Amino acid sequence: MSRKTFRRGIAAVGVAALTAGMTAGITAGMAGTASGAAATLAGAAEQSGRYFGAAISAGKLGDAQYTTIAGREFGMVTPENELKIDATEPVQNQFSFARADAVVDWATARGKRVRGHTLAWHSQQPAWMQSLSGTALRTAMVNHINGVMARYQGRIHAWDVVNEAFDDGTGGRRDSNLQRTGDDWIEVAFRTARAADPAARLCYNDYNIENWTWAKTRAVYNLVKDFRARGVPIDCVGLQAHVNSGSPYDPNFRTTLSSFAALGVDVQITELDVAGASPGTYAAIVTDCLAVPRCTGISVWGVRDTDSWRAWETPLLFDGSGAPKPAYTAVLNALNAGTPGPGPTPTPTPPPGTAGCRVTYATSAWNTGLTADITIANTGTTPVSGWRLAFTLPGGQAITSGWNAAYAPARGAVTATDLGYNAAIPPAGSTAIGFQATHTGDTARPASFTLNGTACAVG
Ligand code: XIL
Repeated sequence: MSRKTFRRGIAAVGVAALTAGMTAGITAGMAGTASGAAATLAGAAEQSGRYFGAAISAGKLGDAQYTTIAGREFGMVTPENELKIDATEPVQNQFSFARADAVVDWATARGKRVRGHTLAWHSQQPAWMQSLSGTALRTAMVNHINGVMARYQGRIHAWDVVNEAFDDGTGGRRDSNLQRTGDDWIEVAFRTARAADPAARLCYNDYNIENWTWAKTRAVYNLVKDFRARGVPIDCVGLQAHVNSGSPYDPNFRTTLSSFAALGVDVQITELDVAGASPGTYAAIVTDCLAVPRCTGISVWGVRDTDSWRAWETPLLFDGSGAPKPAYTAVLNALNAGTPGPGPTPTPTPPPGTAGCRVTYATSAWNTGLTADITIANTGTTPVSGWRLAFTLPGGQAITSGWNAAYAPARGAVTATDLGYNAAIPPAGSTAIGFQATHTGDTARPASFTLNGTACAVG
């Protein structure tokens, strides 16, 4: 049931009946929604325009008890491991999507949405990536983001673009091979992701950022604040919320959620599990999310305790035999008790602007070869964040190498694509690219250029 439907429902049944229904809704397990209480986690969350989801494993899709619970209770699916770097690009440049497809297809066939997890992370890297550093690693990261996001373009609600980039305790960056490519690796990942799938919400995701007083929380907050101030594309922050004795629930969690939201991003609880599954703690976390309009959804990290990555902590909502635990009832009731708030804010649409570009193209040719130096200027009023420059080479010209862009194919109708680090061209800004080519006599430049679908002035 959508928020709209719910609102229409209010008008139809009247306020008195609704209030009665909401009170009745405190009793768990009620069937249907006529009383104002939903009988599933997904349905209860939808009443305020939010989702309730879970991490789902491809390897368990043959388990009928698992798929029955997951199919019924969850409206958002995060592939638990199948979209990680080691799974999707086990060999450099050889992408492998079979296991991710299994989960994504299972979810979409049932009308569920998908959170993508994760594109850039120090952990679960394939061996080839672990051994890379410097420019080679930076280029591989950009290539990986483009490869995976292109495959699932338009099918992923939100991507955890970067996962766990901050250090525990110190409030600094976590040391990793990605971090050693330069501090800007996070923003390069986000700019690359925006260009690859403009429809996906782009999240930064981390653990131990729930407690507002912790240095790590403030460090991530400052990153998001800086990104928002500088126009680096970011739409949401994922708070993993793995709650245990080392990272206990603190009521200031609500302040954390609302503080991030005040920066103009959505917040999502992305990997919730609570060691021991205290019903009170679960309910408090859900209630905190419901209190923050831009807290748009909650996902638990697994279905049954036996599916959990921390099975020994029995941290989930269903026990090993698939029975709902007291924590399940507490979560369902908390969701049903939530009044429809203003609801999540839609992704802000950029102010209307104009697109425009000018290309200058200087060649220097010799008997069998030529060099082309191209400058792409943004003459519009809208920032370009990710670009593709299309042009047609005269017959006989073939690109042999290029710089500052990826060129494909080498001859004929060519598209030059940004390399991530140079994806952004602000209004009045420009970027320089170029290539070397062989030719068979015709050294003329292309007749026209198109940037992201807009014809460019030349010269
Ligand atoms: C965990 C999975 O649940 C395990 O199956 C896997 O062996 C390791 O990763 N933070 C994250 C998740 O962002 O990707 C992790 O998932 C749990 C911690």
